[in-house]
Amino acid sequence: MDIEIKNLNKNFKNFEVIKNLNLSIKNINSLGIIGPSGSGKSTLLRILTGLIPHDSGEIYINSKILNFNDKSITEYRKSIGIVFQNYNLFPHLTALKNIILPLNKVHKIPIEVCIERATYYLKKFNLLEHKNKYPKALSGGQLQRISIIRTLCLNPKIIFLDEPTSALDPSFTKEVLNTILSLKDENKEYIIVTHELAFVKQSCEYIIFLENGNISHSDYTNNFFNNNHNNESLNNFINSTLTIN
Ligand SMILES: Nc1ncnc2c1ncn2[C@@H]1O[C@H](COP(=O)(O)OP(=O)(O)OP(=O)(O)O)[C@@H](O)[C@H]1O
Ligand SMILES: [Mg+2]
Repeated sequence: MDIEIKNLNKNFKNFEVIKNLNLSIKNINSLGIIGPSGSGKSTLLRILTGLIPHDSGEIYINSKILNFNDKSITEYRKSIGIVFQNYNLFPHLTALKNIILPLNKVHKIPIEVCIERATYYLKKFNLLEHKNKYPKALSGGQLQRISIIRTLCLNPKIIFLDEPTSALDPSFTKEVLNTILSLKDENKEYIIVTHELAFVKQSCEYIIFLENGNISHSDYTNNFFNNNHNNESLNNFINSTLTIN
């Protein structure tokens, strides 16, 4: 994916959440967004997914401008996938029905194709035996993997994930992270907000560190974690996160 962001600003009432943010990346298949709580990560992700409009600045995704005042935004939203922290599965539908509902009803894909796609991923992620269970009978890790499958079945151009493991018991975090890692085998591009630094290091090609609504450091992952960048707050962030975990 190519992403170009120029002078992006977003305020909530009088509070500046994103302040003159700039980014230019080309040909990146996976982007990690990290940073302290309240730094604007979720807000940036919501803007990039077309869910909330920015106040000023320009965003180009794969060279196409994100225009919230144009009907192209609806097409854009349909072309991407979002994985939420709290799964957002319907409690009255089985795992399989949760996966195929948006495919069939929103994207108008024939039901046989929906079932075929869902079965492929349920098998791949060892969840086939759980397909007829309702959400209350599934673990947090299974629920989150079902919601990832639901997104994958839409064949999105880019998958956006906002802290997909933060609501999980640590014992389920690994299975969800492994599922996300395997998106690479599927040649899927993704942008992930996460506090799991070890995971970002392993799974993302490029990383941005947000601080007070701005990118205070960004680089290819190989360079990102060496300590020669003279960014004290980033070093503190990395060290404190590693210490707590
Ligand atoms: N709808 C809103 N109305 C008012 N303020 C908001 C709104 N959404 C976010 N904010 C504020 O904007 C700032 C950035 O929020 P955001 O959720 O983007 O942070 P974050 O980096 O994702 O934090 P966390 O790691 O805790 O999820 C916070 O100070 C938050 O209180
Ligand atoms: Mg957040």
